[in-house]
Amino acid sequence: MSGYPPEMRESIRKVEATRARRIKETFPAMSLEERDAILQAFHPDYKEETFHALRVGVSKGQRMPIELGKIVEGWPHITPDFDLSEPFAETDVLVIGGGGGGASAALLAQENGAKVILVTKLRFGDANTMMAQGGIQAADRPEDSPAIHYLDVIGGGHFTNVPELVEALVMDAPFVIEWLEELGMMFDKEPDGTMIEAHGGGTSRKRMHSARDYSGAEIMRTLRDEVRDREDDITVIEFSPAVELVLDDNGQAAGAIVMNLETGVYSYIKAKAVVLATGGGGRLHYQGFPTTNHYGATADGVVIAYRAGARLGYLESMQYHPTGAAFPEQILGLLVTEKVRGLGGQPVNAEGEQFVYPLEPRDVEAAALIRECAPVEQGGHGKGVVTPTGQPGVWLDSPIIEMIKGPGTIKKALPAMVRQFGRFGIDITKEPMLVYPTLHYQNGGVRLKPDGSTDVPGLFIAGEVSGGVHGHNRLMGNSLLEITVFGRRSGRSAAAHSQRVKLGAPSLAHVAAWIKELDEAGVDTGVISPILLPDYTRHQ
Ligand code: FUM
Repeated sequence: MSGYPPEMRESIRKVEATRARRIKETFPAMSLEERDAILQAFHPDYKEETFHALRVGVSKGQRMPIELGKIVEGWPHITPDFDLSEPFAETDVLVIGGGGGGASAALLAQENGAKVILVTKLRFGDANTMMAQGGIQAADRPEDSPAIHYLDVIGGGHFTNVPELVEALVMDAPFVIEWLEELGMMFDKEPDGTMIEAHGGGTSRKRMHSARDYSGAEIMRTLRDEVRDREDDITVIEFSPAVELVLDDNGQAAGAIVMNLETGVYSYIKAKAVVLATGGGGRLHYQGFPTTNHYGATADGVVIAYRAGARLGYLESMQYHPTGAAFPEQILGLLVTEKVRGLGGQPVNAEGEQFVYPLEPRDVEAAALIRECAPVEQGGHGKGVVTPTGQPGVWLDSPIIEMIKGPGTIKKALPAMVRQFGRFGIDITKEPMLVYPTLHYQNGGVRLKPDGSTDVPGLFIAGEVSGGVHGHNRLMGNSLLEITVFGRRSGRSAAAHSQRVKLGAPSLAHVAAWIKELDEAGVDTGVISPILLPDYTRHQ
């Protein structure tokens, strides 16, 4: 019994009819000119009218989605006269964020002699790390090298990445894989013990290391266990999002104001260094897109770092993962890992025709899916499938994987996908999945330096909250890498900073200055930010 309604099954029959032919054909990748043209015409980042240029702060003029601009230009939760005289807690390093970046930073700060407090908005591990599926890149095979990895990253990012950050990413990568394995991560391996490594979109070598299709969950399990093991030195405080950074009277980071989500009470945690690893903002649903992101992804770190004077960059660039679930509605927008295409899965339109090379860089692939579904009168191909509730999508032909790689491949390599669709009566070993692009990742953020530092002395960052590593388009598997590489670097740097810094009196002068600047510029978005949780109430 299929979980698809009869009208969708009709189209699936066309997909089945072309499968044997499609196995033998290789769909060509696009030329650079074709890629540019399709991005301009169909990628959401190129819809000028959906962007806003900041009117206040050190990165005035920085473009970003309107929804993000509204909260970045928001009003603070607290007033500048908030009492800082009796901190709720004191530590060497305060880590804000309970995903893979925060956990890596906490571990390295502790190893480098710091006492650490890690605060997190929801539970420790409620983060995009946990949702990541496909894998983590590292050039650790003889036919590969960090230099080749570097070229792939730079090419995928349209040559706009910060070179020193890419260098740090690719040079640390092989070591990070060894580190994770030493901590207990269970990578996929061949019977002889060598790592199984696959391609992702835009990679010229197979270097995607995975743990089935729950690679992120396995990394999070490993790092979280390790943090919990070091509880003498690392204190974890859950349900306590940061709403403001605190600086000292010399402008150095001196901790943060956190809110107890249960009681609504704000408290000051004093620290000699701060690591911000709060992730991205998928729950802001730019242009109405669904998202792969976890519930707390509301761009908090960008908001509070900006108010403290850290420059932003690349926020005009968001990543729409080509394959979010488009049916059934209960899982709309959830990730359908790129690994499906890495294994041979093909995007196919309502007529059963393949229309794009499956492993174009993500932005190009997403634009191609949008074009396939867009009506002809809007320049699209009008060949998408439309669900009973009106959601467009194209087929991601997964059963073809079993024909290419052999029966049983899907259950072994993609157990999370099998379960995700199986709950709704869809057996992806026999039927394709309906997919459409979904908001996945924030390419930009707070400007980062290779040692994890920012413009604000004593403020370090790691992961999706930062901008510059990926330029204007991230390749698959480089975010799990980014959180570990820069989590480690920022944790180590924060510990070193905490040992040498002389903190002055804690102050919220920057909050007073922010309010003054908003007032003088006549900016009032009517929002108190960070918003902390998405607003899903219906506004009539
Ligand atoms: O498709 C995926 O599995 C996503 C991976 C990533 O964003 O790196």
